[in-house]
Amino acid sequence: MKKSITTFLKRPIKDSINRSANPSVTRASTILFNSMQELHKHEQRIKANKKISYYSYGRYGSSTTIELENILKELEEAYHVFLTGTGFGGVALAIMSLCRPGDEILVSDNVYGPTKEISEELVSEFNIKAIFYDPENFEDLKTKITKKTKMILVENPGSNTFEFQDLSEIIKLAKGKKILTFLDNTWGTPLYLKPLKIGFDMSFCSATKYLSGHSDAMGGSLAVNKKVFKKIMFFYKLSGYRMSADEAYLIIRGLRTLDVRLKQHYENTKIVINFLKKQKKIKEILYPYKPSSKNYKLWKKYYSGANGLFSIVIKSKKKSSVIKFVNSLELFGIGYSWGGYESLALLQNLRGNTKYTKIRRYLRFAKDEHIVRLHIGLEDPKDLIKDIKKSLKYLK
Ligand SMILES: Cc1ncc(COP(=O)(O)O)c(C=O)c1O
Repeated sequence: MKKSITTFLKRPIKDSINRSANPSVTRASTILFNSMQELHKHEQRIKANKKISYYSYGRYGSSTTIELENILKELEEAYHVFLTGTGFGGVALAIMSLCRPGDEILVSDNVYGPTKEISEELVSEFNIKAIFYDPENFEDLKTKITKKTKMILVENPGSNTFEFQDLSEIIKLAKGKKILTFLDNTWGTPLYLKPLKIGFDMSFCSATKYLSGHSDAMGGSLAVNKKVFKKIMFFYKLSGYRMSADEAYLIIRGLRTLDVRLKQHYENTKIVINFLKKQKKIKEILYPYKPSSKNYKLWKKYYSGANGLFSIVIKSKKKSSVIKFVNSLELFGIGYSWGGYESLALLQNLRGNTKYTKIRRYLRFAKDEHIVRLHIGLEDPKDLIKDIKKSLKYLK
């Protein structure tokens, strides 16, 4: 019987020894073999970069991480999934495995700060050039392609300013020129968008966010097609990337409720946005919440759902009053990350002094406009609204 992905995520994992409904947490460095011959045979398969069903040494993973790899492989419809200790490790793994001196990478200008930093700063030390393109201008991307372009790195939507791109147009362009494609799909998750199915070579997701869902684990998932598998496997093995069995267990546990959590985040978000859109002090809501929203069509074209992460644009001559607004929220934590059970608020630094904050995606905002990113958690949205209402009075 063909199971839906929801049923698949909820099925018990039969542990043959413990008979438990969940996999055991296999913390392993040494893996034991029945004989030297068995060990050698296994090593040969690994050397030949063959896909393997168990590992020879804990650095490459254990039964718990393999279980997670298999779940994500099915969810992403991928050839293979590489797990990393943090989400960011997955971004670095893709770039460092595939790009070489002399190559250029095209990066959408709305990417997560450290993705911008690695593209701009670190790779230039290896003579790899990052060129940033405007995610709202496909012509800009087109004209920046050169003979040296190795990869197009997209984050969709941008996780601060929420631009959506026409993904199949990017794929068409890249395929015609034999350029590799990478999508940071942390916002959509593989439940709502399967990047490999629409033609991306790599689908990345920070498992730290919705996949684990409880703000207590870190991890990354880099799902790949056959074309890029060998090169990434080669680098993966030699770079020491891995995910611990404990984190893998927590992410498997989180995945059981991914669908119901996302639905609830979305329902709560719609209720909160319904309140926010009536507030005069809020100039814009960066989220595809109604058909006339800027990115609604592109969201609908590619995604089968949305979640709890969006930004609001506040118009105020006094930045200090925006800070006061954020500080006075009692039910919203102030902190990085998102995708956990809880609500969070963060004032984005639009005009900071570092070059990573002086980026195009912020240029369209006027000097008296401030972006506060909100993550709507699983609390009662009525309480969240009361909290926001009380804090709005600080905005001057
Ligand atoms: C869009 C996006 N991609 C990648 C990452 C990196 O993931 P991690 O924090 O798990 O390293 C983040 C983290 O905030 C993110 O928001």
